[in-house]
Amino acid sequence: MDDTALLAALRPAVGRLFERHLTSAKEWFPHELVPWSRGRDFAPGEEWDESAAVPGPVRSALFVNLLTEDNLPYYFRSIERTFGATDVWGEWARRWTAEEGRHSIVIRDYLTVTRAIDPIALERARMRQVSGGVTPDPRSVPDGLVYVALQELATRIAHRNTGKLLDDRAGYEVMARVAADENLHYLFYRDLVKEALAIDPSSVMIAIERQVREFEMPGVGIEDFSHHASAIAKAGIYDLTLHHEQILVPVVLRWWDVANVEGLDADGARARDAVVTRIDRVGKAARRLAARRSEGVSIPA
Ligand SMILES: [Fe+2]
Ligand SMILES: [Fe+2]
Repeated sequence: MDDTALLAALRPAVGRLFERHLTSAKEWFPHELVPWSRGRDFAPGEEWDESAAVPGPVRSALFVNLLTEDNLPYYFRSIERTFGATDVWGEWARRWTAEEGRHSIVIRDYLTVTRAIDPIALERARMRQVSGGVTPDPRSVPDGLVYVALQELATRIAHRNTGKLLDDRAGYEVMARVAADENLHYLFYRDLVKEALAIDPSSVMIAIERQVREFEMPGVGIEDFSHHASAIAKAGIYDLTLHHEQILVPVVLRWWDVANVEGLDADGARARDAVVTRIDRVGKAARRLAARRSEGVSIPA
């Protein structure tokens, strides 16, 4: 089935899931979560005082996650191109973009008021990131759906864990609120992939295999991304164990139930076998890494 036919076949499910999203999403306001009373003016050219900073790995996570949220207008470009601008697909893409915009607003206001990150370095990085216009570019509709399902869940996990490590009630609340939105985005795409698996099992299975194989945390285009990703993993904000236990097993193996999808052609069956094998291998690698960490062996970035 080609992309146009799949999009058309999914339209009733998109309508249903969009309605569910609107019913579940609670309105909230960034300004009510930001602890403004802790802020003060920045003099022009004022040097940032690192003593107010959060620890390095938490800073890496905030930096990467905020820059990713900043870059979402460009993700919108990919999403609109892949799923279409008209009918309920377009309605969803625009609503999603509006919600994502709120995430960068609240996180940036929180970081600016608390001085947890150097605001000049952050603004320069945002300019470079958004000017670069680099975004993931899914090669098909099934690839796009699978990628965003995994990515929204990964973002939810990373935001939540970052909030827990902030050691600040206000920061925890900001990150938990954003994570709750990411959870609704994840549920939308997770269930859409399930619908797509029933409509066109082989194409979707091939996309699942490819996206699991190629998956990277969002942050593409951010300078020094691998350094930050490594710090984030070492702090347990997002690492291979979480990736395996909180994404690959519950979503790919259980919810999408890839091992039991029926109606696969030969390529689809090969993709199914490959993804099951890969998830097993990732689990083993994650356990090895965790064992080495608990033995105190330093793991190269
Ligand atoms: Fe977001
Ligand atoms: Fe999201």
